[in-house]
Amino acid sequence: MEQRPTSSRPFAAGAEWWRQAVVYQIYPRSFADSDGDGLGDLRGILSRVPYLASLGIDAVWLSPFYPSALVDGGYDVDDYRDVNPQLGTLADFDELTAGLHANGMKVIVDIVPNHTSNRHAWFREALAAPKGSPARDRYVFRDGLGPDGAQPPSDWPSLFGGPAWTRVPDGQWYLHLFAAEQPDLNWANREVRDDFLTTLRFWSDRGVDGFRVDVAHGLAKNLAEPLEPLPATPDPGGSPLPPGTHPFWDRDEVHGIYAEWRQVFDQYDPPRIGVAEAWVHPSRRPRYASPSGLGQAFNFDLLEANWTCGELLRVITDNLADAQRHGTSTTWVLSNHDVVRHATRYGLPAGDHVSSTETAKAWLHSGGAAPGLDRRLGIRRARAATLLMLALPGSAYLYQGEELGLHEVADIPAELREDPAFRRSGGAETGRDGCRVPLPWTVGGPSFGFSAGPAHLPQPAWFGPLSVEAAERDPASTLALYRQALGWRRKLQGPESLEWMPGTNGQVLHFGRPGGWRSVTNFGPGAVPLPHGNVVLASSPLHEGLLPANTTAWIIPGS
Ligand code: NOJ
Repeated sequence: MEQRPTSSRPFAAGAEWWRQAVVYQIYPRSFADSDGDGLGDLRGILSRVPYLASLGIDAVWLSPFYPSALVDGGYDVDDYRDVNPQLGTLADFDELTAGLHANGMKVIVDIVPNHTSNRHAWFREALAAPKGSPARDRYVFRDGLGPDGAQPPSDWPSLFGGPAWTRVPDGQWYLHLFAAEQPDLNWANREVRDDFLTTLRFWSDRGVDGFRVDVAHGLAKNLAEPLEPLPATPDPGGSPLPPGTHPFWDRDEVHGIYAEWRQVFDQYDPPRIGVAEAWVHPSRRPRYASPSGLGQAFNFDLLEANWTCGELLRVITDNLADAQRHGTSTTWVLSNHDVVRHATRYGLPAGDHVSSTETAKAWLHSGGAAPGLDRRLGIRRARAATLLMLALPGSAYLYQGEELGLHEVADIPAELREDPAFRRSGGAETGRDGCRVPLPWTVGGPSFGFSAGPAHLPQPAWFGPLSVEAAERDPASTLALYRQALGWRRKLQGPESLEWMPGTNGQVLHFGRPGGWRSVTNFGPGAVPLPHGNVVLASSPLHEGLLPANTTAWIIPGS
């Protein structure tokens, strides 16, 4: 049954390489450590280029590796045009880029335009400068409310808990939609805009192929005085806010910024690409993904969906229709560095009218105690979900460690937690450390081969049997499944279309791709017959020729 692909051919070349690319996200601090300090680094990644090549991915996305105090895992950037000395040097970056390119992989870097860190030269200058100065205008400084200005200038909250304003010694307040160490930039300021164009050119000139744009929907803000109060969250059944009217999320003016970025992207051959992290209503996503804007936007609908046939059918249908209407390709994501890993989400009972990520957050908050996690079911469904995702038209984003079948780590002691969301919310949010625990490369040894010493976040004992070393010895491992799936995808990939096939019902998703490639997923409790053809890959073994529950199979024409 498990035929291996016999040849590979590039299916994504030239300017459109990204449309159906498989992009593997590396969280540099937690991938591989070359110098034994417990923190992953660029030379660690370089040492694993053969592993990355063996996966069969098209591109690597590097989460931030810039100079940073790592208050928010590097999303607090001190200098956009350098490398954190703890993680390496610009020369290491160049070597890594060359190594990835030489092995046929593109390089996408993370760009964090909504906020700098509080250690950035501009912010230091702003603190030292007087009220109303040009240095302060690069950020959002305001006087406070109340007779002595002791109240924050508005009721805007930080996403990590507490108010979005922090007071400075001269009495003014500055805005930070995230941690206090992440002051928001003022994108109405021309110097800010120009400096980011310089940064885009800096990395593009070094050979970077594209940019993942952090909080892409947050840059444009309505800063007119008096600052608008936060709109009331609409009732679930009530009418949503009119589009583009929130004081800081998803305002129409943001697209003027990306139109300028596009001009820079298009000065390169092939044009550099952008992918927006924009948590917006699906109807608003196409503008970020437009060819005159960033070109692509993350679609997180799959990641939020519960493991039910109906939800996935709706998500797939809607997103493909949207992408087609707007001339882009859609992106599929099951896991990333901000959410509970999908092996764990799918091992938890689905809540009514609650996304899989919300259910998982509640589980995390209980320290992994409730609701009960069925680990085997979770990984079985995660494998089925991955095969389903990889058969869809469009690009797919994988997150480091999902190819090992890693579950979320729930039991990190409070004193070792690193996520500012945990600290700022006073523990009300457990945070995202559980999916950022350093990868296990070997069955044993200090930090399971991640580093010569202990890892910066504690790894559980169950990481050893899930290590790369263990997986490479097991032909049924999740790693083997990912490699085979990516090999077959490369061989079978064709035009970006999908046809729903007979047999799709409340329990089964069955679709065909050009050339006769079909994918069937069984969500129901019992085994179901498979359509005619050769099964080239299945996420779990077939049972007497039938497709068992929580399993996906790929089929190609044949006798
Ligand atoms: C989104 C990133 O994915 C997340 O990790 C980070 O904390 C926030 N943006 C703030 O930069």
